[in-house]
Amino acid sequence: MARISVTVDGVQYTDDVPPRTLLVHYLRDQVGKVGTVVGCDTSNCGACTVLMTDPDGVARSVKSCSVLAVQADGRGVTTIEGLAAPDGALHPMQKAFHEQHALQCGFCTPGMVLSAVDLLQDEPNPTEAQVRKGLEGNLCRCTGYQNIVRAVLAAAEAQRGTPGLIPEPAADDVPADASEPAVTP
Ligand code: FES
Ligand code: FES
Repeated sequence: MARISVTVDGVQYTDDVPPRTLLVHYLRDQVGKVGTVVGCDTSNCGACTVLMTDPDGVARSVKSCSVLAVQADGRGVTTIEGLAAPDGALHPMQKAFHEQHALQCGFCTPGMVLSAVDLLQDEPNPTEAQVRKGLEGNLCRCTGYQNIVRAVLAAAEAQRGTPGLIPEPAADDVPADASEPAVTP
């Protein structure tokens, strides 16, 4: 077992995990973040995408089926469940997906939304071609992508000039009971 401490959606968790545990399984099975889904388990579909801080503290999209839970030790992770504001207001990307009808079954949507959030960090004013290129690691079997692209362009328009739209990982106290969150989400 390896002990890891990860801040997930603003709440710090400390847990013991088998060293080979994938981040997606840790998030779903131990932390209970079942909004993060497994589509393929072979890093092809992007459904499991979350944001994870890099060593510089910048949140970047990663396919959580291709990351070990131990690699998230000391990092902040944002899942689709932590993207909305604390008062429940949708993130501009979630709002745009809703308004542009950018989902059908919704299975790809958590990963698609988080990849798109990361995409706009690098390119706040993307062209349609840049959106399509930026989301090529996320597969959707329902929508034909047209409304997804439209949603990302709409979100870019809505959030231009509004920095800080990725929730900051909070550095709360490590919970006394390692299996319990320090703060009730
Ligand atoms: Fe991770 Fe498909 S489940 S990329
Ligand atoms: Fe069904 Fe994308 S909405 S897979």
